[in-house]
Amino acid sequence: RSPGRFRIAVIPGDGIGKEVAPEGVRVVQAAAHRFGIELDVEWIEWASCDWYAAHGEMMPDDWKHRLQGVDAIYFGAVGWPATVPDHVSLWGSLLKFRREFDQYINLRPVRLFEGVPSPLAGRRPGEIDYLIVRENTEGEYTSAGGILFEGTERELVVQESIYTRIGADRVLSFAFETARARARRRLTVATKSNGVAIAMPWWDRRADDVGRRYPDVAMDKQHIDILSARFVLQPDRFDVVVATNLFGDILSDLGPATTGTIGLAPSANLNPERKHPSLFEPVHGSAPDIAGLGVANPMAMIWSGAMMLDFLTHGTGAGRAAHDAILAAIESVLRDGPRTRDLGGWASTLDVGREIAERVAEPM
Ligand code: NAI
Ligand code: MG
Repeated sequence: RSPGRFRIAVIPGDGIGKEVAPEGVRVVQAAAHRFGIELDVEWIEWASCDWYAAHGEMMPDDWKHRLQGVDAIYFGAVGWPATVPDHVSLWGSLLKFRREFDQYINLRPVRLFEGVPSPLAGRRPGEIDYLIVRENTEGEYTSAGGILFEGTERELVVQESIYTRIGADRVLSFAFETARARARRRLTVATKSNGVAIAMPWWDRRADDVGRRYPDVAMDKQHIDILSARFVLQPDRFDVVVATNLFGDILSDLGPATTGTIGLAPSANLNPERKHPSLFEPVHGSAPDIAGLGVANPMAMIWSGAMMLDFLTHGTGAGRAAHDAILAAIESVLRDGPRTRDLGGWASTLDVGREIAERVAEPM
């Protein structure tokens, strides 16, 4: 394959995933076309609750083999709790991708746009603009542990947190690299070394060790409790924030919540070594309450597609240009409309997707 050509597996999933995915692909294709990137797009109907209804499982047995060769997975949302329990649909698809494709970075940009009111009083666009880097494979989320003497007075529960030097160093290095590439070159390390007295002092030392290779990045460590408060009180302090799995999970819902609608928040699940495909998806779910109405905001899906193009070309060249063009188009549509319901407008998912695609193809 030529260097400007990529294979993308599109998995719409369920609910509004099926409505926003076509708009994401429309915009990504428009940007790819403009900047000379070739995409071979393959639509996949499994990893959905419809497929489950027909086959009794979320994915075919050879799913890994089928996806291993693609350059990226562009994912809508999975879940239809009326017919399939959420733990079955999520563990049977998305969580398998994250684990088996070793997507150890979960990346979420947090940005306040003009035209989107922040729930934080008085905040202006430009004052909230940071990136959360969450460890996505270990830490507090493990299945190591168990329950003893269950149902008796002695009932005892152990749930282990597992941190490895490999796991910590790779997410910290990624965060330092990311900070180094940004204008402000600041990295905040989320910790709790005053309370979690074994693992977190160790995590702090890993940050110091890795940080020695990045003297040009200003690092500070903050305990997770005050860090959360500052996301609300002083969001302008942050540039890149790195955290272990649980802390990162919480921060990456709190951060986007301060910037308005969930219909905007994108994410990337990355395997930076590119041994396995990475996955790009909106933060939101399948939204059964509005599914089928054609009113979902496609911007989170579209922005995730921009992150995909950027990643495919290593944050440089055509993919970076395509990313920036898509972001500029989202910004301009947020200013001028059309707007979906969540932003106080009446436009459909399709209206917004088409408008962004047009502005990407021919900037105004
Ligand atoms: P949700 O994100 O689907 O919806 C939460 C609320 O936000 C709803 O009121 C919904 O209408 C609104 N909303 C979400 N996306 C929107 C958009 N693009 N435009 C306008 N409004 C939007 O979360 P919920 O309701 O907790 O979960 C619904 C299903 O989605 C469940 O089955 C859940 O397991 C699944 N889910 C899947 C995720 C994934 O695939 N990564 C992530 C989160 C939830
Ligand atoms: Mg979460």
